[in-house]
Amino acid sequence: MRKLVYYVASSLDGFIAAPDGSWDFFGPVHDDLGAFITDRYPETLPGAREKRVFDTVLMGRGTYEPALKAGVTSPYAHLDQYVFSSTIDPGIDPAVTVETGDPVAFVRELKQRPGRDIWLCGGGALAATLRDEIDEFVIKLNPVLAGNGIRLTTSPYDPRRLTLLEATPLGASGVVLLRYGLADG
Ligand SMILES: NC(=O)c1ccc[n+]([C@@H]2O[C@H](COP(=O)([O-])OP(=O)(O)OC[C@H]3O[C@@H](n4cnc5c(N)ncnc54)[C@H](OP(=O)(O)O)[C@@H]3O)[C@@H](O)[C@H]2O)c1
Repeated sequence: MRKLVYYVASSLDGFIAAPDGSWDFFGPVHDDLGAFITDRYPETLPGAREKRVFDTVLMGRGTYEPALKAGVTSPYAHLDQYVFSSTIDPGIDPAVTVETGDPVAFVRELKQRPGRDIWLCGGGALAATLRDEIDEFVIKLNPVLAGNGIRLTTSPYDPRRLTLLEATPLGASGVVLLRYGLADG
């Protein structure tokens, strides 16, 4: 069955964005990180032509909005795009499906359909709702302390142990790519 993969950049202290939603604190994308993404997850780059892992992307409204503010209504046109929101116009773009229902039920149904893995793009609120449906975490761990901001997931305290699948230091950027799966396989 296809997996739900939360593929996301995080600070060392677990933040995916600043309190105002910006992400400048990660700094510019270093060549080594760019090369890694292009090689392993090319479809996570806007305008990509090649798909290696994902054919579908899920976004919360907060994750979709920066693109919207920049005038981009279909940021990942090469993927099946779903945005969870009760406030965005469902007709915003023919290439984007705005989902108003329960993300958990939606993901369970989506996993039954044939296809590549499903990219949970973010953000922290949607990841919290979908936490128990996530099969794999791919964290681009950046050597920066944000101090505060938007957390990787906004879940309440509820520890869950995972299994390390991969740890790849990328080089001069100091970014470490961490891949974790479910503890029981
Ligand atoms: N570092 C990274 O790689 C990365 C990746 C992605 C995002 N981000 C950042 O994360 C931030 C957005 O994260 P966020 O946590 O604020 O928002 P989010 O999870 O992207 O979106 C939350 C919104 O999704 C909608 N939603 C609908 N059903 C939901 C449900 N059951 N559970 C949760 N949300 C539901 C709601 O929109 P309505 O109010 O319209 O109903 C809710 O306000 C942005 O700043 C973005 O830049 C960073």
